[in-house]
Amino acid sequence: MCLRFSLSMGKLVPRDLLTHAKGPMPLRKACGRAILWGEQRREDVGMEGFIRGLPKAELHVHIEGTLEPEMMFDLARRNNVPLRFGSVEEIRAAYEFSDLQSFLDIYYEGARVLHAEQDFFDLTFAYLQRAAGDGVRRAEIFFDPQTHTGRGIPIETVITGINRALEAGRAEFGISSGLIMCFLRHLSAESAHETLEMALPFRPLLLAVGLDSSEVGNPPEKFDAVFGWARREGLLVVAHAGEEGPPDYVWKALDVLHARRVDHGVRAEEDPDLLFRLAEERIPLTMCPLSNVKLRVFPSLAEHNLKRLLKQGLVVTINSDDPAYFGGYVGDNYVAASEALGLTRGELIVLAKNSFEAAFLRVEERRAFLAELDRYVEASG
Ligand code: HPA
Ligand code: ZN
Repeated sequence: MCLRFSLSMGKLVPRDLLTHAKGPMPLRKACGRAILWGEQRREDVGMEGFIRGLPKAELHVHIEGTLEPEMMFDLARRNNVPLRFGSVEEIRAAYEFSDLQSFLDIYYEGARVLHAEQDFFDLTFAYLQRAAGDGVRRAEIFFDPQTHTGRGIPIETVITGINRALEAGRAEFGISSGLIMCFLRHLSAESAHETLEMALPFRPLLLAVGLDSSEVGNPPEKFDAVFGWARREGLLVVAHAGEEGPPDYVWKALDVLHARRVDHGVRAEEDPDLLFRLAEERIPLTMCPLSNVKLRVFPSLAEHNLKRLLKQGLVVTINSDDPAYFGGYVGDNYVAASEALGLTRGELIVLAKNSFEAAFLRVEERRAFLAELDRYVEASG
């Protein structure tokens, strides 16, 4: 019999006990040669099993982008929100994008079904459940308050719903987490200011601020003042840059906003001086390979620059971005990138290590996760 195992709450548990978007792994990939795993002899779970069990941090996931069509339908019914789609299949069929903006239009439309605190809880908890099945030990999660406050939903409803799920995820799955509040860059700097002001009563529940939405034409320096204010409040900074925008946006994210990580950053490759700086200062890039193909940043996964930049010593990490829209959660992104780019086992381990290096963790927690990763690698032979 072929057993399938995943890491959950630091323990190996049969994968069948964990929910996963795509159900159990195919047996062909899951079953291989027998290996020694701790005291017990278990069957090799293959490269895909190795990847899914690999302890990792997910640092680039938009919680609104984890809204699966099934939940969209349930919430639309619960909250009496009309949808222009007649079925889950119709929704999925609409997920064909030509660029970032074509995705954002449908992503904001989907988010309209989120109303009550319980909705934000359910959304976040479902993500964490899937993440646990993918070996995620630390999740730093984006949310877009303006998508909700603009519809009259109080920011308190959003933050407390998400936060309650993060607490439940800590208790039930042992996932350590943090919340990153993103400003929508297509809106004004004043709107970002008002958002930060509304969020400050919940300051202890926030880890960092970020910048997302339509990149081209909305450079980082538009938000210079509000990021300065956020930093003075002790919030860390990340920013989407170099997804569709030019390398100059990455420079500005670093020099003007003082971003500690760059979300996507794939276009940094066009500027050798920028690559040198990112490598020299070990500024992580939170890459999202399936997203980049879906939004046509790269024509195919085989042409993605993730492996090239990893080989040049950049702190590359793999993440899911908007998994419900782009066809895969973080484990799927690792597996797909691994297959398309021929990532070695060693490179996969470096990617997982990078994710903990790039995470906003206290020294002891980082050390504990890295030690857990080492034990996992050793046990898997
Ligand atoms: N880029 C910018 N904004 C976003 C994204 C993205 O990939 N996903 C959700 N908001
Ligand atoms: Zn993103």
